Amino acid sequence: MTIIDGKQIAKEIREELREAAEKAGITPGLCVILVGDDPASAVYVRNKARGCKDAGFYSRTLRLPAETTKEELLGIIAELNNDKEIHGILVQLPLPKHLDEAEILSAIDPDKDVDGFHVRNAGALMLGRPAPVACTPQGCIELLKRANVPLTGANAVVVGRSNIVGKPMALLLLQENCTVTVCHSRTKNLKEICREADILVAAIGKPRFITGDMIKPGAAVIDVGINRLDDGTLAGDVDYEAACEKAGWITPVPGGVGPMTIAMLLKNTFEAACRG
Ligand code: GUN
Repeated sequence: MTIIDGKQIAKEIREELREAAEKAGITPGLCVILVGDDPASAVYVRNKARGCKDAGFYSRTLRLPAETTKEELLGIIAELNNDKEIHGILVQLPLPKHLDEAEILSAIDPDKDVDGFHVRNAGALMLGRPAPVACTPQGCIELLKRANVPLTGANAVVVGRSNIVGKPMALLLLQENCTVTVCHSRTKNLKEICREADILVAAIGKPRFITGDMIKPGAAVIDVGINRLDDGTLAGDVDYEAACEKAGWITPVPGGVGPMTIAMLLKNTFEAACRG
């Protein structure tokens, strides 16, 4: 059984990007916008700024009050769209309830949309055209590839259908010639479907939801979940100890998918900077 070390792979990617930026003579710049004071989001935003620093990129973090109006936020995005130092703009989700996420995300210049959430980029992914791709699913594919997990013809099951992870994940696996099934909260026979998966991606948001009896022996198990438990520790969406008994490959939490999300964000920012 192989534990896929996302932390180490992400470090290698950051170093590759640092060298590529130096060679190209550019300083990629990322602006992260955090609206409100959700503690989990604050941690993610801090980690994104740290990732930039580690790769030698320029980073700016805008922390806005929860009461920020739609007009104020759209004004800030419009300025960043014209800011030559900034190649990537990321609005951390979720946004406070009074702000319409789809409307805000559509205001970002699609060439600076390093999250790949703009309708133009989400549509490009569906059509298999080049465009920034959502960071978490892109990171999952990178982990599978770097761990040499066979993809062509594999039975891939994605549990979760969010716009951020589940849906783009399914499209990327399809691009890699997997046979893809997407499961969700209304799926019947979830256990049986998961048990058929050569590649199982858990993006549910419920701690230890995927139990050992849902895993096919030898499967690659990719755990996207980051759940804070009452005792303050982190747990993935997969029962890790039980899964280790069955899986051929597994990603730990923390240290699996999480660092790769940031590495792919840096990659998207680098590519945006190269486009100019
Ligand atoms: N919230 C949770 N994951 C993400 C992500 O990948 N991007 C943004 N912008 N917000 C998130």
